[in-house]
Amino acid sequence: MACCCGNDDAALISEAKEIVQKVGKAPEYAIPLLQEIQRRRTYLPQDLVEKVAQEAEIPVSNLYGVATFYSQFRFKPQGKYLIRVCHGTACHVAGSDIIAAVIAQELGIEEGDTTPDKLFSFEKVACLGCCALAPVVMIGDKIYAKLTSSKVKAVIKEYKDGKA
Ligand code: FES
Repeated sequence: MACCCGNDDAALISEAKEIVQKVGKAPEYAIPLLQEIQRRRTYLPQDLVEKVAQEAEIPVSNLYGVATFYSQFRFKPQGKYLIRVCHGTACHVAGSDIIAAVIAQELGIEEGDTTPDKLFSFEKVACLGCCALAPVVMIGDKIYAKLTSSKVKAVIKEYKDGKA
């Protein structure tokens, strides 16, 4: 329950304890601890990272050092649908910059951002491992292959209309 008597803090501490119990309590667990926070929350909220650091007895600066080193970690909440635009070599050659520009225009956000309605997050990734299908975009766990500007607009519309 949210109030001024510390219950928010108690909930946070309890969540941090659960995470540390599940993952482990030592500096070598920094990455899995951060992954577990992100799995639960879709990103790394500062208050929870601090509580997990306390519970795991790891300096919070170490956790942030690890979190900022690896691109897998996010510091902002993720939308319901995460759109990953491949910018690997094959996709780049096949026009991933144009696909990314169309997505940015359709959603009204830049790469790395989330739409105000929290429906879409949009990020740039390295090779998704299906280069023969370039240019490729992944939404959630679904791959969209050999995209063109019109195809990607149609895909985004399906998601906006709740038909995907
Ligand atoms: S470069 Fe895009 S899938 Fe490999």
